[in-house]
Amino acid sequence: MTPEDLLELMSRRRTIRDFTDGEVSSESLERIMQASTLCPSGADKLPFIIIKVLDPDTRAKIRKASEEADRKFHENCDPKLKKWFDAKGIDHKKEFLTKAPMLLIIAGDTRKPYWRESTWLSIAYVLLAIENEGLGTVTYTPSDTGFLNQLLDMPQYFKAEVILPVGHPMETLPNKKARVAGKVFAEKYTGE
Ligand SMILES: Cc1cc2nc3c(=O)[nH]c(=O)nc-3n(C[C@H](O)[C@H](O)[C@H](O)COP(=O)(O)O)c2cc1C
Repeated sequence: MTPEDLLELMSRRRTIRDFTDGEVSSESLERIMQASTLCPSGADKLPFIIIKVLDPDTRAKIRKASEEADRKFHENCDPKLKKWFDAKGIDHKKEFLTKAPMLLIIAGDTRKPYWRESTWLSIAYVLLAIENEGLGTVTYTPSDTGFLNQLLDMPQYFKAEVILPVGHPMETLPNKKARVAGKVFAEKYTGE
């Protein structure tokens, strides 16, 4: 792999919100799961878990609870954010939760140090691993996550940070372009 290959993979990764009915192979899933544990983590504790959910009934329940919570969120959210959501066609409806063949719920173990930072590093690794398999996902952060503890028998000390619906992308989006202007500085901050 050349240095450019990794950048190319990162540029190719786009948020996918619609999926075909193609299955995710067990080999792909195994590599994605391995990637999730290869990240650095606070005190090397890997303070997170991943639960894969394939059962259609459980996915339907997750969708229903997510949509209920997100309906309230969308009704009360900041007008600027609402405008962005409208432009993107994003509302409280989460069809991707039942359309993708699999959900990965990634939850942090709040008893462990640096649990949130480490969980999100793991999520980043998973996002790239999913792209590397030719699959797609959306980093879906539901407004409420308590129902996941109940539905998935997770003790209260786990806090679900993300639901990743994983499947074959329905569409191919253009690669991203790096946007370093205003983000990267030499020696001192010289912005504004
Ligand atoms: C922390 C975080 C939370 C996000 N939450 C949501 C979400 O709840 N729903 C959604 O549709 N997309 C969500 N996204 C996806 C972003 O909207 C998306 O990454 C962004 O628009 C850039 O598009 P790209 O991923 O194709 O580069 C989230 C992304 C991140 C990193």
